Amino acid sequence: MKMELNMKFEVGKLLYQGKAKDVYETDHPDQVMVKFRDDITAGDGQKKDTLGEKGRYNSIISAKLFQLLSSEGVNTQYLDLPEPSYMLCKKLDMIPLEVITRNIATGSLVRRFPFYEGQELDPPLIQMDFKNDEYHDPMLNDDIAIALGIVTQEDLDYIRKITLKINKILKNFLDSKGLLFPDFKIEYGRDQEGNIVLGDEISPDTCRFWDRETRDVLDKDLFRKGESGVIEAYRRVAEIILDEDDLKRWNLSWKKLTNNNM
Ligand SMILES: Nc1ncnc2c1ncn2[C@@H]1O[C@H](COP(=O)(O)OP(=O)(O)OP(=O)(O)O)[C@@H](O)[C@H]1O
Ligand SMILES: [Mg+2]
Repeated sequence: MKMELNMKFEVGKLLYQGKAKDVYETDHPDQVMVKFRDDITAGDGQKKDTLGEKGRYNSIISAKLFQLLSSEGVNTQYLDLPEPSYMLCKKLDMIPLEVITRNIATGSLVRRFPFYEGQELDPPLIQMDFKNDEYHDPMLNDDIAIALGIVTQEDLDYIRKITLKINKILKNFLDSKGLLFPDFKIEYGRDQEGNIVLGDEISPDTCRFWDRETRDVLDKDLFRKGESGVIEAYRRVAEIILDEDDLKRWNLSWKKLTNNNM
């Protein structure tokens, strides 16, 4: 069954609806269309809202960062961004791990452990949580992940190695744009051949971005703390990291990206 979403492309059946994205089938059995929605949640899904334009900014920020990683040899899900909010991706069998990398201590790390706010973490810390709403995403270790049958030790070693590489690429790139990269969460999945591929998203919903000079927070922490200017911060991240060539490649304009012009 095909659904017209008023777009220049069609998508198939809705496969999965998460808290912030929808995953649709496509004509190609190895590909899905991920729709980035404007919904935003925090605090284990307790706090919810809708932020106009968020889906568009998160999709273009993710596309940019996936492309950057692909160009550096990381195997990512990204195939195309036919229009803002819609990303054509390799279909993955997701591994239920939230792989968190931390360069600066903040958030739950300083609440749960005696690190001080803003403490530099060098080498970076990798933490893995079990992605499972029913169990509230508890932190786990290698033995638990292996005993659960989610991954092998070899998978974990590979995930750690590639995650550190991803951190290095993103941190250097963001540094060149004047942004600090305190931490981020990524998810991996397996493609049809069983390769471990970077999936999901890399956006202000899943990363912390701080302005290096002003220390302005430019991510979901603003929403978590009930502060104003959330969508303005997401837009600023997009404006900081996308250049003219990116706008041309995806046929975007800043005017087109604002609500009234779609
Ligand atoms: N390439 C992909 N192929 C198949 N599924 C994917 C792919 N990338 C991400 N997913 C999955 O699609 C869903 C994306 O939806 P979303 O992030 O909104 O949901 P969620 O993870 O359930 O919620 P939240 O992230 O807010 O906890 C997630 O389950 C994610 O693991
Ligand atoms: Mg998610």
